[in-house]
Amino acid sequence: MIRTAQPADLSAIMALEEAAFPEAERWSETSWREEFTQADRRVLVDTDGGEVRGVITGRVVIDAADVHRIIVSKQSRRNGIGRGLLDALLAWASQTGADQVLLEVRADNEPAIGFYHSFGFQNLSFRADYYGSGSDALVLAVSVAMPREFAAAESRWVQ
Ligand SMILES: CC(C)(COP(=O)(O)OP(=O)(O)OC[C@H]1O[C@@H](n2cnc3c(N)ncnc32)[C@H](O)[C@@H]1OP(=O)(O)O)[C@@H](O)C(=O)NCCC(=O)NCCS
Repeated sequence: MIRTAQPADLSAIMALEEAAFPEAERWSETSWREEFTQADRRVLVDTDGGEVRGVITGRVVIDAADVHRIIVSKQSRRNGIGRGLLDALLAWASQTGADQVLLEVRADNEPAIGFYHSFGFQNLSFRADYYGSGSDALVLAVSVAMPREFAAAESRWVQ
């Protein structure tokens, strides 16, 4: 089930963060808390019987959206959970008024790049040393412009 995340999910989200990324690449609890407190953000979790299996967060600013973070627990990957979360975020972004969704991803994160390309994200630009010396970013973008009624119908299943 995909639902809006609550602050009570924070400890489970931090566990996903710690399992998925080396220390230098992790978001802090403060960064995650900020996702919960800003009105322009949407944090969604995928749960199974109370277990948080994945999380996504992003924001919409006028007509453009950003995906900030997506994590699926290692044991749950390649089961469509990431797809469900990103579908839901893209539907929300479209419904909220975004025509385009952008994101930055480490240029060496092949699984994530494969995942985003499977949604039709296209490589937009390359940012050398974006994450620090020798750690580059790709900027990816996808259009989500669609009739608003369709976006509303598609996002209805998100609780
Ligand atoms: C990227 C990530 C969220 C994908 O989640 P997931 O639940 O495994 O993805 P899905 O099962 O929904 O995959 C959907 C499609 O994406 C593509 N995809 C997913 N993982 C892939 C991989 N490792 N390599 C290539 N393509 C991949 C495939 O086309 C897949 O469809 P298929 O399984 O039918 O072939 C997950 O690998 C993850 O949490 N990675 C660590 C955190 C991270 O790097 N996040 C992104 C930066 S913030």
